[in-house]
Amino acid sequence: MMDMRFKEILLSIILLFFLPVICQKSYATVGGDCDVCHNLYPGMMEKTYSKKAFQYVLKNEFCVNCHSNITSDTIKILGGNRVPVVYNSVPPINSLAGGNFYYVGKDFGDRKGHNVYKIASSDMKFRNEPPGYSRRNDHSSIGYNFRENLMCAGSNGCHGDRNIEDPFLAIMGTHHAIDKPIDGSTTAKSYRFLKNTSNEKGVIGLEDKDWNQKANSNKHNEYSKSIDVVCISCHGSFHDIENKQGGWFRHPVGVALPFKKGYEDYKIYNIDAPIAREILSNTSSSEINTGKDSVMCLSCHLAHAGPYDSALRWDYENLYASENGKSGCLICHMGK
Ligand code: HEC
Ligand code: HEC
Ligand code: HEC
Ligand code: HEC
Ligand code: HEC
Repeated sequence: MMDMRFKEILLSIILLFFLPVICQKSYATVGGDCDVCHNLYPGMMEKTYSKKAFQYVLKNEFCVNCHSNITSDTIKILGGNRVPVVYNSVPPINSLAGGNFYYVGKDFGDRKGHNVYKIASSDMKFRNEPPGYSRRNDHSSIGYNFRENLMCAGSNGCHGDRNIEDPFLAIMGTHHAIDKPIDGSTTAKSYRFLKNTSNEKGVIGLEDKDWNQKANSNKHNEYSKSIDVVCISCHGSFHDIENKQGGWFRHPVGVALPFKKGYEDYKIYNIDAPIAREILSNTSSSEINTGKDSVMCLSCHLAHAGPYDSALRWDYENLYASENGKSGCLICHMGK
């Protein structure tokens, strides 16, 4: 008898503990059938971590595996949840906002984007070195480790806390946490789990619920200048206004579209050259505010990878060949 009661109490305690998790099933908070995910990757929830290297290796693999797909779909369903797919093993249809790692995973794909561990081997040109890395601009306590590969998260990655080496620990708790409002206070409440370190405010933005799948000028993610901070933490001396070394002059970022001749054509938000908003509203908009909206790293680059070299949004070699004359640099610059 005692035993039964004890079991009941224990069960209700467990239920009470998980109730918030189960009830918070808004689109970006994971809930549903626990086993589908937690049995798929046993060990995912383990709270005791060994210091052995293979544990670390395995963790990044989890991110990659769960966020991958063997079909061309870029959103898949798991345990009743929609998983944003960033790596398809066949050509993706309707890539999400960051592009798709498919392009970098293919043969000769090195230059198409970020060679993330378990997707592509080290980049032949850059090895594991972020071009233009500057320790001064990397505010993480650990810094980037050139002897290790590029990861999804953690100190050698982009998502989660870069003060924590292990990609999984760096993001722990985010998938089940309430992630609104996006105010940069925690990793979960930062745009796409992008918060460099616990001491800095995370990235602010407006998250399209379909991660920009089938985005158009009205419906899309909205960015703010804070997203550049992520890129700058590994590419600190790149596209510095003063830094004009090499053949390619380093384009300025954080500069508003000026009221100058040559810039008056960019009037409707173009998802091929997105801009950072000065003030974010609650909905995405097709409006362009000259003098306010600014150019950012992601105006020209995809965060993950794409079909073109240097992870550019367009083919730099064939910029001027488009039929309507409005692609690439020409979206912002007239008559160049
Ligand atoms: C078992 C599957 C699974 C694993 C493993 C997993 N994720 Fe996710 N991830 C999801 C699902 C489902 C979502 C969508 C729900 C959401 O947005 O929170 C998601 C969303 C995200 C998002 C987008 C959040 C947003 O604002 O929309 C990021 C970034 C992300 N995951 C990164 C990672 C990283 C990094 C790892 C490894 C450390 C990882 N995920 C491991 C299932 C997984
Ligand atoms: C779509 C996949 C998915 C489903 C379904 C899922 N989880 Fe998770 N869960 C994850 C991922 C990924 C992590 C590790 C990353 C993180 O913590 O953000 C995680 C971490 C956890 C953690 C440790 C971190 C934390 O938030 O405390 C707990 C506890 C947890 N899950 C409980 C549950 C329960 C209970 C359910 C069922 C109601 C469930 N999960 C369903 C993907 C899932
Ligand atoms: C954790 C460090 C890290 C962060 C953060 C980071 N990168 Fe990188 N990036 C690298 C490394 C390492 C390489 C070189 C290896 C490679 O190309 O995969 C690289 C290469 C690149 C390249 C050249 C790709 C090629 O092969 O030609 C571009 C472009 C780039 N990054 C842009 C960005 C942008 C834009 C952001 C912000 C959204 C960003 N990076 C954030 C580490 C980082
Ligand atoms: C106006 C467009 C534009 C913006 C904005 C921009 N880039 Fe680039 N970036 C380029 C082009 C074009 C190249 C390719 C240059 C070449 O191939 O000579 C490039 C190349 C790179 C490379 C590869 C370097 C190499 O040697 O191939 C990195 C890394 C990079 N950019 C990072 C960044 C970061 C970080 C930001 C934001 C701080 C940024 N870019 C903003 C257009 C841009
Ligand atoms: C998202 C809009 C946008 C895109 C796309 C863009 N630019 Fe710019 N560009 C700007 C802004 C804003 C400035 C700064 C204007 C100012 O300060 O007067 C600028 C400045 C320049 C300048 C003048 C630099 C200076 O300091 O005076 C050149 C040259 C230039 N861009 C070339 C390019 C090339 C080449 C590309 C394509 C690889 C490109 N831009 C793509 C917005 C853009």
